[in-house]
Amino acid sequence: MNTKTHANSCEKYRELFTKEYLMGPNSIRLLDELLTKYPLPEGGRVMDLGCGKGITSLFLAKEAKVIVFATDLWISATENAKRFEQWGVADRIIPIHADANSLPYAQEYFDAVVSIDAYHYFGAKKGVFEDKILPYIKKDGVLVIAVPGLKEELTEKQEEELLDWFEGNRDDLDTFHSLGWWLELFQGNDDYEVVTACNPDCFSEAWQDWFNSGHKYGIKDQKYFDRGLGEYLSFIGLVIRRKR
Ligand SMILES: C[S@@+](CC[C@H](N)C(=O)[O-])C[C@H]1O[C@@H](n2cnc3c(N)ncnc32)[C@H](O)[C@@H]1O
Repeated sequence: MNTKTHANSCEKYRELFTKEYLMGPNSIRLLDELLTKYPLPEGGRVMDLGCGKGITSLFLAKEAKVIVFATDLWISATENAKRFEQWGVADRIIPIHADANSLPYAQEYFDAVVSIDAYHYFGAKKGVFEDKILPYIKKDGVLVIAVPGLKEELTEKQEEELLDWFEGNRDDLDTFHSLGWWLELFQGNDDYEVVTACNPDCFSEAWQDWFNSGHKYGIKDQKYFDRGLGEYLSFIGLVIRRKR
């Protein structure tokens, strides 16, 4: 497989940075930054897990030049198929409606599983990666994730503020963690190893795109950031390679 250098290509997709397509902080910026650090082999087979409305799938198909299985739970495959037709990439992106907890794929099928701003909803628990995701990745294939998280684990006051942001939902609170916490989650297993770990730099720009989109949740999130939430939030970026 040939690896290639990924050129920073985010700006080409600016017309998608709207409330129609964004579902949170700008996932294209996050993906672009991760692929710059860890380019994927051209022509590979990639699962975009929790692809939402498919903008990261589009970016993967066009910029990384891979075949994408755009997999999501809340957004239907039919809705995404229409978008992929409109974008002229229906031959390279296959829309799939599925739950990350019971994926419908052949084992050891993917060169990469990419998950941007989605993995924390289902994967912030011991055993999920090993049991539910890893089986579908080939040897030497990778999991590439970016999730919102914390600079450090929360103080009591910060926990209260975050809980207020999440409208009292403790399950949501349990998905936000520091890079150290995530590294521990992926430690101590002979089958895989962490090859890249970072707090992506695009934090402010990615959130600002979301606020500017005019989405009602973006407007709400900006109010919390204005009160200081952004001071202790961060993004977590990880690449994990299957060793055998
Ligand atoms: C905040 S949205 C982000 C969507 C997209 N990655 C993006 O950034 O534009 C989170 C996505 O995770 C997906 N998701 C949450 N839980 C999931 C699960 N168990 N299996 C598959 N997808 C899931 C949702 O369907 C949703 O589209």
